[in-house]
Amino acid sequence: MSRGTSGIVELESRHEGSSFWSSLRTAVTGRRRTSRLPGTPEPGTVVTEARGATLSLDGTPVLRDVSVAVRAGEVRALLGPNGAGKSSLLGALTGDLPLDGGSVLVDGAPLGSWTATELAMRRAVLMQQIHLSFPFTSLDVVQMGRAPWRGTPLEETDDQAVADSLAATDVSHLADRHFPSLSGGEKARVALARVLAQRTGLLMLDEPTAALDLKHQELVLQIARRHAAAGGAVVVVVHDLGLASAYADQVTLMARGRVVADGAPAEVLTAERLSEVYDYPVEVVEHPGGGAPIILPARALSH
Ligand SMILES: Nc1ncnc2c1ncn2[C@@H]1O[C@H](COP(=O)(O)OP(=O)(O)OP(=O)(O)O)[C@@H](O)[C@H]1O
Ligand SMILES: [Mg+2]
Repeated sequence: MSRGTSGIVELESRHEGSSFWSSLRTAVTGRRRTSRLPGTPEPGTVVTEARGATLSLDGTPVLRDVSVAVRAGEVRALLGPNGAGKSSLLGALTGDLPLDGGSVLVDGAPLGSWTATELAMRRAVLMQQIHLSFPFTSLDVVQMGRAPWRGTPLEETDDQAVADSLAATDVSHLADRHFPSLSGGEKARVALARVLAQRTGLLMLDEPTAALDLKHQELVLQIARRHAAAGGAVVVVVHDLGLASAYADQVTLMARGRVVADGAPAEVLTAERLSEVYDYPVEVVEHPGGGAPIILPARALSH
């Protein structure tokens, strides 16, 4: 391991350097590839951000001048109706959806300046849809989360990271089951365990609670909170506004590809604004026990 000129710890990645092709590349370029290991950002440091992100897909504008910053020590919820652009924004932040305009920064540097391995050492991504039909076991799936650390000193922590993640998402008992045979919610929890096993500073979670029962929804948001409390950063898409209100430090409310409001849940999640954005009457009710406000659709008492 060595300290690079930028002050970032660098190390040789054994798996990148060991194959025939890597040796050939080394011979051709005259240097071994090194990965810049992530540091530990101070709380409040922006770990990833979109600046003026603009994106059209098949001629349809899906992101219009979107700026959002995700900070260490913070859970940021992305909210908004179906089609608002939440998954597209996550896709832009991961680089899966290249922007038409604007930029994405990771640890202060342009997204394109990082290698895929360096990005995978910094953030783990849970996609909204999980397609995995090959009969991997849950354990296999979760172990996949360790791939970025292969050949680094952190490889030694693989088994612990996998065991911790299985336990945190309450799927240890499903470790030997074939992934395709699991229920929807079980699959979602195993997929989250894979993301947690990656042990990155930034978690990017697209609807991790969509398929989950009440208890496991709470567990997942508690995991997010603990991750932020330990200095990590979380950006999470949820549809349950009550969950966002209870667990997020910051919320970004989107509609039609734009950011409608951004700030603390109590400031952003007002009945008036939510009713307009969701095009449906919404009530924000004080919690009788002094907890986060209860947010629910206004329902007539009789039909
Ligand atoms: N390939 C595509 N071509 C055209 N439009 C697309 C394409 N992919 C996504 N869209 C549109 O972009 C908009 C934003 O989609 P996105 O998946 O980001 O929404 P979302 O906020 O994540 O919604 P949901 O809550 O339903 O997951 C939607 O109107 C969607 O139909
Ligand atoms: Mg989505």
